[in-house]
Amino acid sequence: MCQQCGAQQPRWLGKCPDCGAWDSFVEQIDPRGTGSRTDRRTDSATQPVSLRQIATESTARLPVASSELAQVLGGGIVPGSVVLVGGDPGIGKSTLLTQVSAYFAEQVGLTLYVSAEESTQQIKLRAERLGFNSEHLYVYSETCLNLILQHVTNLRPSLVIIDSIQTVYLEEVTSAAGSVSQVRESALRLLRVARDLQIAIFLVGHVTKEGAIAGPRVLEHIVDTVLYLEGDRFHQYRLLRGVKNRYGSTNEIGVFEMTHNGMREVPNPSQIFLAERSAGSPGSTVAVTMEGTRPLLIEVQALTSHAGNAPPRRVSNGFDLNRLLLLIAVLSKRVGIPLFNQDIYVNIVGGLRISEPAADLAVALAIVSSYRNQAVDPDLVLIGEIGLSGELRSVSQLDRRLIEATRLGFCRALIPQALSGSTIDGLDTDILRSLAAAVDTVLHTNGLQEQG
Ligand code: TYD
Ligand code: MG
Repeated sequence: MCQQCGAQQPRWLGKCPDCGAWDSFVEQIDPRGTGSRTDRRTDSATQPVSLRQIATESTARLPVASSELAQVLGGGIVPGSVVLVGGDPGIGKSTLLTQVSAYFAEQVGLTLYVSAEESTQQIKLRAERLGFNSEHLYVYSETCLNLILQHVTNLRPSLVIIDSIQTVYLEEVTSAAGSVSQVRESALRLLRVARDLQIAIFLVGHVTKEGAIAGPRVLEHIVDTVLYLEGDRFHQYRLLRGVKNRYGSTNEIGVFEMTHNGMREVPNPSQIFLAERSAGSPGSTVAVTMEGTRPLLIEVQALTSHAGNAPPRRVSNGFDLNRLLLLIAVLSKRVGIPLFNQDIYVNIVGGLRISEPAADLAVALAIVSSYRNQAVDPDLVLIGEIGLSGELRSVSQLDRRLIEATRLGFCRALIPQALSGSTIDGLDTDILRSLAAAVDTVLHTNGLQEQG
């Protein structure tokens, strides 16, 4: 079985024909007979029912420690659901979930924190550091899933944390802990317990180098909600991003700050991403992107320098490199800026990654601003997607973006389309149709200090 994607082959192969991973096949005895399919109850009342007859159970959500987390979860914890929290080692998954469970224990009731990685003393130390000492929080250090499930059934907690899914194992499955079949069978078993006892379960999952939750993509299909905790270990900010949610919208993000006493939520992230802004220096612009339903203002920095005789380098940090190459081509061909001999570096400040094309205009103008060594008006935000013929294309939710920009004190905006509502107080908007016009508006050509 391929340890990356779960594909099965009757013999060993060097390369997985399904996912292309090398040296990922491991021999495994088929755990048939202990699998989830065979011991399913056949007597129960599972029958097709008319949609109309289904009682809408109260969709009560249980409270979580922070409103940022609640937003990512779609309002709160749903009883009977399984949530996977993935992230690199050391990013703060255990810290966040300790806070969640301690808060839950104080507010709702019995909570069980199962750690297969740390001893109960270590968990106690962390909880003390975070300032929790709840009597309803039970801690259990165990790796055998059958024992864990036995205690879950006896204790009947309202919330269970399994830290981590890769370190627990089922005796019936012969392969090693963390392998595809172990992780999948364990997750299925936990899912069934969650549904049967109406317990919410949080699973911690480690992430592989490629960015997938270790080994199996299969895990993402089993659970109800998948959250990734992202961030740079060297920065204090962490983003909790929803990538799948059966109970709410995906692509919501929550922003947290790692402090010496735990994760603290950041209710106003735009302010933080702009805090150290190099306003007024060439190569810095401000973009407004949407992360789920939340507008985020971020600083885009660009630096161009003459490449000499070497082939020019294009380096991007936090912005798609192919998108950057496209913008450079449009700037050269449609705006007539000769970037062919320039090294170009683009950086999104704060360790953020932008995937939205609405930031195109800010990136393109940061490049021109650095190339011409002319600063962009620090009170200006730039919004717009750039097409191949150099046209500015409209973006979604323009009004919300602009309202957020005004809230943070920006008073000018370059936008690709008219507002749907009336004007926004205190904001000057320029509607522009092309990148060339935007360059002319923002950077007046009289300052001709072009370098290179
Ligand atoms: P941890 O939650 O153990 O990470 P994970 O479970 O994702 O591997 O957090 C690890 C880091 O967080 C560790 O380097 C110490 C740091 N940390 C703080 O900065 N403040 C705190 O209050 C805690 C508990 C940890
Ligand atoms: Mg941990």
